Amino acid sequence: MKSLKDKVAVITGGNSGIGYATAKALHEDGARVIITGRRKEAIEKAASELKVRGLLADQSNLSDIERLVLDVKEQFGKVDILLINAGITKFAPIEVMTENMLDEVMNVNFKGAYFTLSKFIPILHDSASVIFLSSTSATISPQNASAYAASKAAINAVMKIAALELACRKIRVNAVSPGPVATEIMSKLGLDDSIEAQIINSIPLSRLGRADEVADLITYLSGDHASFITGSNFLIDGGQSLWVHYKLSLCCNFLSLIWLYMLSNNIPTVAHRANA
Ligand SMILES: NC(=O)c1ccc[n+]([C@@H]2O[C@H](COP(=O)([O-])OP(=O)(O)OC[C@H]3O[C@@H](n4cnc5c(N)ncnc54)[C@H](OP(=O)(O)O)[C@@H]3O)[C@@H](O)[C@H]2O)c1
Repeated sequence: MKSLKDKVAVITGGNSGIGYATAKALHEDGARVIITGRRKEAIEKAASELKVRGLLADQSNLSDIERLVLDVKEQFGKVDILLINAGITKFAPIEVMTENMLDEVMNVNFKGAYFTLSKFIPILHDSASVIFLSSTSATISPQNASAYAASKAAINAVMKIAALELACRKIRVNAVSPGPVATEIMSKLGLDDSIEAQIINSIPLSRLGRADEVADLITYLSGDHASFITGSNFLIDGGQSLWVHYKLSLCCNFLSLIWLYMLSNNIPTVAHRANA
């Protein structure tokens, strides 16, 4: 028995990567899936491969979002699963970040994601599941990712407030935060093999994630098995976030060892000197 039979699922940014893999998984589980994107050819190709509906809509454009809601309402009625997935990255040190780059990232990842939820609320079924595609960047503070990390951290805040505001309609709102996943977003960033090796080195499971692994988690959160889960942010990162803490704890352990060595050898520490 397909557990999402006849559920209506909207996925923004569904023509590649995690959105594409999730469209495939939800469709296989019986859902009627609508994917969106900005590139006409890419959306048509993906929709025909996946045998789902494809609609052109730019998530950073409010009138596109409003038109998307009207189209979905007209063609499918109400929505059971809303995956707000479309996102972009722009990396630069804060000192050289331009207004354009910051606006571009925020307009898609934050403002666009925010208004996608806002405008879809009236056509969500009671008991619907809303999932934001966030990122571990919001919590592990990678250098040069200030705009991207801030956009995802802002979405995490909105997710929790939305979970509270929509609980009266039994609508669940959660976020999924992947670590590095091998999708087109990586090639769009122009990452070469040596940077990819460095990234893999920072992941305890020693590999990049796969889009279908993220799709499995989203599929679980979409269905009734997750009926008591709302307001949560799920990390799926091969342990990368722990690695950051691990490195910090190694550093702290090292400092503690130096401190103990100085104490046991009667070498004056700052505290000793202050007391002297
Ligand atoms: N891959 C990772 O390592 C990773 C890690 C953490 C979080 N994430 C997040 O996961 C989500 C999906 O990323 P991905 O890795 O699957 O990347 P991807 O393969 O580049 O997919 C991004 C999708 O978003 C669409 N998109 C981009 N801007 C859009 C806009 N303004 N309006 C509508 N659609 C738009 C793209 O289609 P068009 O270009 O045709 O518009 C594409 O379908 C993003 O929110 C990303 O931040 C990814």
